Amino acid sequence: MPRFPDHLKGHGPQNPFPGIKVLERRLGREIPYRLGSNEGLDMPHAALRAHFGDAMVEHAYCYGDSEALGVRQRVSAQLGTPLDSLLVDAGADSLLALVVRTVTTPGCTVVESRGTYPTFGYFAESHGCERIEVEYNEGPGRLAPDLEALITAAHETEARVVYLANPDNPTGHVHDDDAVLDLRARLPEECWLLLDEAYHDFRQDADSPFAAEVLPGVIRLRTLSKAHGMAGMRIGYAIAEPQTIEMMMKARIHYAVSTLTLAAAEVVLDHPEETRQHIQAVHARRERLAEHLGSLGADVLPSGTNFIALRMPSSELAASIHADLLDAGSLINRPPSPNLGHILRITAVEEALKPGRLAALEAALAECS
Ligand SMILES: Cc1ncc(COP(=O)(O)O)c(C=O)c1O
Repeated sequence: MPRFPDHLKGHGPQNPFPGIKVLERRLGREIPYRLGSNEGLDMPHAALRAHFGDAMVEHAYCYGDSEALGVRQRVSAQLGTPLDSLLVDAGADSLLALVVRTVTTPGCTVVESRGTYPTFGYFAESHGCERIEVEYNEGPGRLAPDLEALITAAHETEARVVYLANPDNPTGHVHDDDAVLDLRARLPEECWLLLDEAYHDFRQDADSPFAAEVLPGVIRLRTLSKAHGMAGMRIGYAIAEPQTIEMMMKARIHYAVSTLTLAAAEVVLDHPEETRQHIQAVHARRERLAEHLGSLGADVLPSGTNFIALRMPSSELAASIHADLLDAGSLINRPPSPNLGHILRITAVEEALKPGRLAALEAALAECS
């Protein structure tokens, strides 16, 4: 089993504010009079009510359920993952910070791919960890996190965590389940595999049994920001062994997910058909975008996400297209890491398919071919 820091082992620290919802469940009855949490219960909220309506104000007054039971129950029912292997927090980014706080101490080494989604490395560094980066594996039709290089670096540096975004951002690459299991099996026993599955729902095999599995020594992260369209509300969840979830609960900010967000997530999760249809529409748009740009000669990388990544002939050309599009009012993504400066990432929304929206890119592709 990978290691936890010594200060989290044993009984403490205890969450000082589990809150009224947790107490109600422990007592098995409702507590009708909230006189102890110093909330602003008498605030009339006329302005808020006028702006957003009564339903929103209902969620403004009270601290929420620190265990996010309603959301966890719905995720558990949909995936089949046991309730005690699920933890909810304010998006995958918050979960990345939580994992850093739960499994590392300053001075630990963490390993990731150079240029991958940067938030984990940023949080790890700000926690005093040493960040080791390995190069991507690049070839014709392929730009992928290099699992062999991650394994080698983890052994050489006695890493505490290996981070893998799967599907990857910014490349869109998907490593299959066997590759992930092989990676876990070949990492040092004390090293965690942090699997950032923010784009999981866009995988063709998103509903496979493996998707719901609790994998020993692995912390899997998901978000409702992408396929569920809730990025502004901040909510995501982790899948891990119950003991790992318990440790994460010791380091978690108990009310980081607002009552409004919890309620909204419950509504969205209660309507999975809408999410399913949205995902299908994203797949169709992604294919249309890839086909269109591919037909103009672009090197479009395979993607299991809600975006496509193009590999341009040079970093300079990618930079100038990015700047020209921005001048015309369209912001696409060019990864900040110099080794991926030749990549352009475009979200597969309808707006990207509007005639003229990507004119500077189309003109550059025509010039190249
Ligand atoms: C790989 C990856 N992980 C995490 C996130 C952050 O997700 P959230 O909005 O849930 O914090 C993103 C967002 O772009 C991402 O691309």
